[in-house]
Amino acid sequence: MREHVTQAAYLAASLLFILGLRSLSSPAKARRGMQQAALGMLLAVIGTLVQQEIVRYEWIAGGMAVGAVIGAAMAIYMPMTAMPQRIAVSHSLGAVAATLVGVIEYYRHGADVGRGKMVALGFEVLFGALTVTGSLMAFGKLQEVLPTRPITYRFQNFFNLTLFAVAIGLFAWLIYDASNPIVFYTMLTIGAALGVLMVLPIGGADMPVVLSLLNSYAGLASAATGFALNNNVLIIAGALDGTSGFLLSMLMSKAMNRSFANVLFGAFGAAPAGGATATSVAGLTFRSLSPEDAAAQIVYARSLIVVPGYGMAVAQAQREVRELADLVTKKGGDVKYAIHPVAGRMPGHMNVLLAEADVPYEQLYDMEAINDHFERTDVALVVGANDVVNPAARSDRGSPIYGMPILNVDRAKTVIVLKRSMNPGFAGIENELFYKEQTAMVFGDARTTLKQLVQAAKEL
Ligand code: TAP
Repeated sequence: MREHVTQAAYLAASLLFILGLRSLSSPAKARRGMQQAALGMLLAVIGTLVQQEIVRYEWIAGGMAVGAVIGAAMAIYMPMTAMPQRIAVSHSLGAVAATLVGVIEYYRHGADVGRGKMVALGFEVLFGALTVTGSLMAFGKLQEVLPTRPITYRFQNFFNLTLFAVAIGLFAWLIYDASNPIVFYTMLTIGAALGVLMVLPIGGADMPVVLSLLNSYAGLASAATGFALNNNVLIIAGALDGTSGFLLSMLMSKAMNRSFANVLFGAFGAAPAGGATATSVAGLTFRSLSPEDAAAQIVYARSLIVVPGYGMAVAQAQREVRELADLVTKKGGDVKYAIHPVAGRMPGHMNVLLAEADVPYEQLYDMEAINDHFERTDVALVVGANDVVNPAARSDRGSPIYGMPILNVDRAKTVIVLKRSMNPGFAGIENELFYKEQTAMVFGDARTTLKQLVQAAKEL
């Protein structure tokens, strides 16, 4: 009977995970998707708790209580801008669990573990350990407790690949003969070292791609745990986690027009790599406007496209953006928001922030849907975006972002850019847009500037 309850709970949980993932594909249903997935996780936990194999519940109850308190605290107190770091911590915790299960299973069965099970345990421990340290490194870079720039040295990729090959060699040895614990623990140690070494040469802003790739490793480790423990829900959830993480990292790389290899081994962001650099625009001048003058142009625009970027997230300016947009709408103007797929530092970053400020979903436009609108638009208001509006991506073959699809902001009649300085964005390159005739810069923290714009617009 208990077994039936468990299997029924696992089946329902798996369906809810799939439904949750499906709902997450649209901002309007994303919240429901998270609720479906959370309910699925609750059912999976209940299904596991009713199993006969559990000997004592005290430790489990204690662990669940501690986990619930930590989870609730993270959900309540972590700001939205710290979400990538939070996800990195969650990944490392999930991977610790998978790795520990692998170690315990090996400790219990030792040489008698059997070849099929050793394959599962090897995956679990090697990829689990790599994910633990890799995620912690990603956390450190995102939280800026570690240097965010890529750390590179000679023969780095060769060294890492050789180490990886050694780990795979040890894995193969264990499948052939699992009797020597030194081989097992050496493989685990190399896995943990690889997590650190592989993340070192990757720049801080590429961490979301790394995280979703590590997510797919963690999924693989969980699915392997499922095979090792004969647990269906772990196999299904692990497979979903693994494939969705892998697809997401591919989509992110594609949106930046960069190959996986370039993200993982290219040390992107280490130094400006050719293209439009500060010197190539020397001699050009830019125009700066006071918030009062900018407010007049914005509020009387017939059509306004707001282009949010990483700077809006840093400044937490989403509510002020919406307030200004509301004033434009009140005066009869049409407002749209242009969302670049890799604006900010994580997938859906801008959607989440704008949803937090209650911006109506129907005003949010994906890049493909909005790009033709710019040439018919009076004002494009760029709020802390830089690389995603850089025309060099279209025209400068030498630019590191050449080929990345961008928002056609430079085709709007007037462009107003809110940022603090002429400093470059994540890619470390100059942006010709800022020097164009129709562009005006309004310098300052985006939130402070937007407050001034709102104030000035109200007085008009
Ligand atoms: P960025 O190109 O990074 O530019 C952000 C701009 O915001 C900076 O130029 C900065 O200029 C400005 N800024 C920072 N703090 C500000 C503040 N408090 N107030 C006003 N402005 C502020 O951002 P983007 O255009 O959103 O492009 C994202 C970049 O990240 C792309 O290169 C993309 O490839 C990369 N990336 C994204 C992802 C995902 S999934 N989103 C993943 C990996 C990499 P000042 O310093 O002058 O203020």
